[in-house]
Amino acid sequence: MKKLIPIIAFVFIFMQCKKNTLETAQNNKITGFIADSAMVVSAREEASKIGVAILKKGGNAFDAMIATELSLAVAYPFAGNIGGGGFMVYRTNDGKTGTLDYREKAPLAASKNMYLDENGNIIEGKSTLGAMAVGVPGTVDGLFKVHEKFGSLPFSELIQPAIDLANKGVVVTKKQAERLAYYKHYFSEVNDTIILLDYDWKEGDTIKYVKLAKTLERIRDHGRDGFYKGETAEMLVNYVQKLGGIITKEDLSNYEAKWRNAIEFNYKDLKIIAMSPPSSGGICNAQIFKAIEPFDMASYGHNSLKSIQLLTEAERRAYADRSYYLGDPDFVNIPIDTLISSTYVKNRMANFSWDHATPSSTLKHGNIVGYESDETTHYSIVDKYGNSISATTTLNGAYGSKVYVSEGGFFLNNEMDDFSSKPGIPNMFGLIGAEANSIAPEKRMLSSMTPTIVEKNNQFYMSVGSPGGSTIITSVLQTILNVYEFQMGMQDAVNAPRFHHQWLPDVITMEPKGFDSLLVNQLQEKGYQIKQENSVILGKVDAVLRLPNGKLEGGADYRGDDKAVGF
Ligand code: GLY
Repeated sequence: MKKLIPIIAFVFIFMQCKKNTLETAQNNKITGFIADSAMVVSAREEASKIGVAILKKGGNAFDAMIATELSLAVAYPFAGNIGGGGFMVYRTNDGKTGTLDYREKAPLAASKNMYLDENGNIIEGKSTLGAMAVGVPGTVDGLFKVHEKFGSLPFSELIQPAIDLANKGVVVTKKQAERLAYYKHYFSEVNDTIILLDYDWKEGDTIKYVKLAKTLERIRDHGRDGFYKGETAEMLVNYVQKLGGIITKEDLSNYEAKWRNAIEFNYKDLKIIAMSPPSSGGICNAQIFKAIEPFDMASYGHNSLKSIQLLTEAERRAYADRSYYLGDPDFVNIPIDTLISSTYVKNRMANFSWDHATPSSTLKHGNIVGYESDETTHYSIVDKYGNSISATTTLNGAYGSKVYVSEGGFFLNNEMDDFSSKPGIPNMFGLIGAEANSIAPEKRMLSSMTPTIVEKNNQFYMSVGSPGGSTIITSVLQTILNVYEFQMGMQDAVNAPRFHHQWLPDVITMEPKGFDSLLVNQLQEKGYQIKQENSVILGKVDAVLRLPNGKLEGGADYRGDDKAVGF
């Protein structure tokens, strides 16, 4: 027995060490909020809590989506909206998938050269600021489409919490106060009265959105017509036209959100379910994932020289194709199957070299023969029944066009800037477009919004998405890779520093502090241009991960006031 004591002690110590190591590994890995079965992660705690309250009373993920989106319209006027649009990707508990496109459309009176002067030059600011920048909003119709197909609770119960929140008021956060101070001067530049947000709001103040509450009541009482017809439509159209815009009542009453098939593709043993055009996100990410699939990404290490090189070159090629081929599928033919096929993507990567960067000036879109012719906000929801949704909604720029329909209490988008106003000339995200994304009446402008759901072993694995204009696509991509290839938990994957390349401008944008100077020098030596400004934030990812034990881990981006709530 005496002889056994040291052995037992050794085994005990070994087991303890092992347990501690495992716990440490586990602790390092899981840093996000954990819930047993249901979760909402969004840009504001108020909205996440309202979504979760709907889930608690037996509503499904789609009910919670409606309540969350409307609450963001109140609590997060920076990007949450009823005057904008968005996309939603879903996966039901029986594995059915699909997407809803509630993207804004160009007004009937829009025309190809509407942002050009008589010499064919872009009129600075016309597509980004003020009434001419506004696209026909899609959010309210989108929510009614969701309710019609999947809702289980009455719409009035889903909208009421947002009405109550608007009347009670929302406390201004530090980040919100800073944003308001920064954008304030635009509000008076664009509007003909002092708008609600154009006061000296400070952290801790409470803003009551009484007019918005009234608009939401009209939507509650009259359905989609409470927005697209009657009093609200009158307010919107009169104000936009007074400021020189072209949206009519006919534009509003004609608007319809559309159900579309998802872009689905495999990456190793994952199935990725992403948004189809008019989002470019699904196709771009399918191309990037396919381009990196033959390489052993995990062995290169997270944000290592090789990882950054490989992803940058894949991104460069995908964004070059984006600019040429992608637009509204109701107006242009897009060779989707070819663009996302492994053979095509492998060919695109044929001239990739570890030795040096491929200059974007030497790279165009791929040749497909026989082909016929930011601010935004994201939320992810999983319910206890196993349904999941991933939704991204936007006004485009911060507070959209800055046009605020004071009578109705809401901002209008500046989504028209997501069209290509002139081939080869970049929009506010530096994106270049071509004929496929030119302006036409009732056409939807190309988007980078990339709500995405990931399946593993035929089960829900992750719901992820982000704001950030052109950087949305690469933020979503890197977050999925952080979990899958680099073994991070959801919160760590969201927190990890990100980088971005979009073909043109030919530069890798990096978040500050996350990348050391040695790495930056190594990249520069290989011919990469690096931009690492202090203020750069790439994306603001909100995501949910299903852990091996079936629980959910939230990833709420610290870059904003985002919050995961669940039970
Ligand atoms: N407004 C940003 C996007 O849709 O890409």
